[in-house]
Amino acid sequence: MPKRIFLTRYLVEQQRLEGHIPPELRLLLEVVARACKRISQAVNKGALGDVMGSAESENVQGEMQKKLDIIANEVLIEANEWGGHLAAMASEEMEGIYVVPNRYPQGEYLLMFDPLDGSSNIDVNVSIGTIFSVLVKPEGAGVSEQDFLQPGTKQVAAGYCVYGPQTTLVLTVGDGVAVFTLDREQGSFILTEEDLRVPEDTKEFAINMSNERHWATPVTRYIDECLQGKDGVRGKDFNMRWVGSMVADVHRILTRGGVFLYPWDKREPDKAGKLRLMYEANPMSWLIEQAGGMATNGKQRIMEITPTKLHERVSVFMGSKNEVERVTRYHSEP
Ligand code: AHG
Ligand code: MN
Ligand code: MN
Repeated sequence: MPKRIFLTRYLVEQQRLEGHIPPELRLLLEVVARACKRISQAVNKGALGDVMGSAESENVQGEMQKKLDIIANEVLIEANEWGGHLAAMASEEMEGIYVVPNRYPQGEYLLMFDPLDGSSNIDVNVSIGTIFSVLVKPEGAGVSEQDFLQPGTKQVAAGYCVYGPQTTLVLTVGDGVAVFTLDREQGSFILTEEDLRVPEDTKEFAINMSNERHWATPVTRYIDECLQGKDGVRGKDFNMRWVGSMVADVHRILTRGGVFLYPWDKREPDKAGKLRLMYEANPMSWLIEQAGGMATNGKQRIMEITPTKLHERVSVFMGSKNEVERVTRYHSEP
């Protein structure tokens, strides 16, 4: 029988053999994975579990919350607050940070998450997911929002779990990208791929084309050239895919290449983009970079941006290296 490597074993080996992660970080990642299993169960139950539809409330981003957004947020908090590994958490669904209550020991890590990414896909049975990012709390007493405002280069772990036909956990602790598939009978995540690589070239792009008229010139130029296919300067035909859940779009790109774009646009010119830097763009950027891809905001590496607020937004271009390089170059050309 082929040897099965459980998430626990992978993490123990990262801790013991590779020296990449301390024991508290291993615990943290196991707890996050356990929370994802619970979210996966809730997602699978669907209409049978009273988890569908709107919660009739708004989050700090001004978006309507779905029941599952709130359930996933609660599951992640409940799972993580007592273990002693965390100082505080931050989430798309909470305006301020969530400091670990006094009754529990405080650890040195900060956890950020998008509890449920792709909310608009929940009720239509399309892949959704959880995205997370881990930082170390800077030295000093107490914990504040300021402690979270570190660039993505400071992440010590990042990953996502996609709830699709399979439940898949994708993780990096800075030693490449590992993929785990949930074995439902056993209730365990099993290592199914190690050292994932994103092909440097691609013929597939992902963007919400309905926003075309609002884009900036470099984005219009890049997509126009893709659309011209064999007849244009690119000399090859492109395919387009847009799931509408970043987690699923990026998972496809990590698996078979492609480029994901959610650029700034004129609809809300004061916002840098739609996606959030700290719990969407940064963890995904690190995974993409660890797999040999590239992630920029059109001007600079996303992970080098120093955030000024928790729910900061960012323009996103990520995926196959040569495509991201090209669209980034277009931003600096007249
Ligand atoms: P969330 O559900 O966490 O708010 O994120 C949704 C995001 C992202 O997953 C996706 O890529 C994008 O919104 C889709 O936006 P459009 O509906 O504008 O295409
Ligand atoms: Mn999201
Ligand atoms: Mn979300």
